Amino acid sequence: MTKIGVGVIGCGVISRAYMTAMQRFPNIELRAVADMRTAPAEARGKEFGVPAMRVDQLLKRDDVEIVVNLTVPLAHTDVSRAILNAGKHVHSEKPLGVDMAEARKLMELAEQKGLRIGCAPDTFLGGGHQTARKLIDDGAIGSPVAGTAIFARPGHELWHPAPGFYYLRGGGPMLDMGPYYITDLVQLLGPIASVVGSTSRPRQERTIATGPLQGSKIPVEVSTHVAGMLEFVSGAVISVLMSFDVPKHNHTPIEIYGTAGSLLVPDPNRFGGEVMLAKTGGEWAAQPLTHAHTDGEFRSIGVAEMAAAINANRPHRASGALALHVLEAMEAFQLSSDQGRRIMLETTVERPAMLPAGRADGQID
Ligand SMILES: NC(=O)c1ccc[n+]([C@@H]2O[C@H](COP(=O)([O-])OP(=O)(O)OC[C@H]3O[C@@H](n4cnc5c(N)ncnc54)[C@H](O)[C@@H]3O)[C@@H](O)[C@H]2O)c1
Repeated sequence: MTKIGVGVIGCGVISRAYMTAMQRFPNIELRAVADMRTAPAEARGKEFGVPAMRVDQLLKRDDVEIVVNLTVPLAHTDVSRAILNAGKHVHSEKPLGVDMAEARKLMELAEQKGLRIGCAPDTFLGGGHQTARKLIDDGAIGSPVAGTAIFARPGHELWHPAPGFYYLRGGGPMLDMGPYYITDLVQLLGPIASVVGSTSRPRQERTIATGPLQGSKIPVEVSTHVAGMLEFVSGAVISVLMSFDVPKHNHTPIEIYGTAGSLLVPDPNRFGGEVMLAKTGGEWAAQPLTHAHTDGEFRSIGVAEMAAAINANRPHRASGALALHVLEAMEAFQLSSDQGRRIMLETTVERPAMLPAGRADGQID
């Protein structure tokens, strides 16, 4: 198998999960790491046995074909643009950009250069979500009619050592967690037609609860409670709640209700999990998982899938076009709330193809 060389820019908290999971995919190989700060890059380089260097040096390497952008949201489009300008494919952490204007420009640049953009989340490629997809496509719940998508927590300042970015432009619960839920919903139900939203910001500052900055106050610039509706082209209407203002709750992450049954979809921030189905009037029953990548961390499966797509000359699944559509939907919640009206989306996207069932972990095609 021809391995595709991968570089990583951004060696913070999430980079270890990516670099560990990359070892599970035989078609990609980590070749170099970089960060705007020397120490984190050197630490990850040492940990994973690859050279650490400056960003400009990584971008000049001939043995790196895909660069994974794990920087903070406000830096995503600048770093992704530099990657494309260096002639390399990019896979970015979510969101693709902090607003549609910058994300659209990035997509245009990739188009001009004939390069690929991939974007997190790639959790929808996990076995829990692919199993849910297969059940829906096989008609297990009839036609999807409605559902819920709920992420509601007290806030990342409780566990993240440097959570400031979660409360600045580009952060907030919708741009941070919305991508997992809305991307999964698009792969399950198809494209979104319109959005209705209502948002609030109950606290103007937060207090860091852990690490060296414990006790420091951080400003809150964005809405921390976002509620609303996603109206799909298919006619399905999903009620959405993304919040950093909920102490505790008892909802499941995603529920889909159809004309013949209901489906509980596992946490879209994880790859596996339990898929439960109830036919109308019946009881919940756990469904056997039909797809691989269920048990553990596979963050970087989107990179491996892009590498497989490059080799096979076919579209990749965790695509920039999908991320752009999801970003437009996320942005529309705030727009709708500000303007007091339903927002019709301008972008659309085809559902990424289901992965083949019955494969082993690490096997894409
Ligand atoms: N922490 C998590 O659990 C988690 C999970 C999933 C996704 N994410 C996403 O991953 C991204 C990174 O999150 P994190 O928690 O690892 O953040 P982090 O702050 O721990 O790490 C980000 C790293 O990027 C570097 N960086 C920032 N701007 C840069 C630039 N312009 N050039 C080069 N390096 C730059 C920083 O020096 C830092 O080391 C975010 O988009 C976040 O939403 C995080």
